[in-house]
Amino acid sequence: MQATRVLTGITTTGTPHLGNYVGAIRPAIAASKLDDVDSYLFLADYHALIKASDPDLVAQSSREIAAAWLAFGLDPDITHFYRQSDIPEITELSWILCCNAAKGLMNRAHAYKAAVQANEEAGEDPDFAVTMGLFSYPVLMAADILMFNAHDVPVGRDQIQHVEMARDIAQRFNHHYGEVFTLPQAVVDDDVAVLQGLDGRKMSKSYGNTIPLFGTPKQLQKSINKIKTNLLEPGEPKDPDTSAVFQIWCAFASDSERASMHQAFLDGIAWGEAKKQLFERVNDEIAPAREEYERLMANPQEIEAVLLAGATKAREKSAALLAKVRQAVGLRSFA
Ligand code: TRP
Repeated sequence: MQATRVLTGITTTGTPHLGNYVGAIRPAIAASKLDDVDSYLFLADYHALIKASDPDLVAQSSREIAAAWLAFGLDPDITHFYRQSDIPEITELSWILCCNAAKGLMNRAHAYKAAVQANEEAGEDPDFAVTMGLFSYPVLMAADILMFNAHDVPVGRDQIQHVEMARDIAQRFNHHYGEVFTLPQAVVDDDVAVLQGLDGRKMSKSYGNTIPLFGTPKQLQKSINKIKTNLLEPGEPKDPDTSAVFQIWCAFASDSERASMHQAFLDGIAWGEAKKQLFERVNDEIAPAREEYERLMANPQEIEAVLLAGATKAREKSAALLAKVRQAVGLRSFA
């Protein structure tokens, strides 16, 4: 049986946080260990340039994210783990796809539309501060996906549209030039929690409400103590279903631990106590990776070597596919 190619990219803006761990790192590493999965996990550092203009931040974030994935047990021998910017075939394919992707399709992309809408509301020119990078973001993402003929693309809900655009672009290309690309599909796993942040909204760097994955146990404890709660006193029953403390607990706990924390809320557990237990549970899961993360961060040349080897392995595939694409569109040798 042919393995399913599963591909996902991680934009390298920001420091890895608990939401990244629960929503992406943990499930992707688990999936990469399945026999029938051929996985492609990469640092989307070209995508980072769309959002981040601070070079040191982009560089630092790439390093932290790579170290985090490796520290949690990503095995580069059984996956393709690489930096997008180490695969020149991706930018080349991106241009060729640009010449096939309808501008009208890109006009409908959520991220671009949101930027235009914000400008209009502010009375600005609709394209104020909109770069070609932002506008073409879905084409670059299509190149990421189609480059490796991915079947499944695990993403959060906000990215479904982009995967559908990749599929549209592939379909249009295949129709015109012959069957070159596999048609990808977005996979949204409802069992994977979208973690709540300190303020109860989705944990996200853009909301500034994250709990960083690494740092000292004390820092983790401090972050957890900042999760917003209400003023209910110890002994007063608390609603687990509206509490970020309980929601994050559930992402780390076993079924029976969930049930007992649920009961503890109804019985009026003190917020301080609930947070203390949450800290201990989260810390237990993270502690083994913390040491390895620190070691890798202190040895960046080791991370670099892993990524370069990953790029070499990935480029065997991307170079072969790009040769096919060039042939298909008429960029051919005269000899
Ligand atoms: N745009 C995605 C995000 O912000 C990251 C990404 C880039 C990606 N290329 C990809 C995800 C290809 C899946 C497949 O989350």
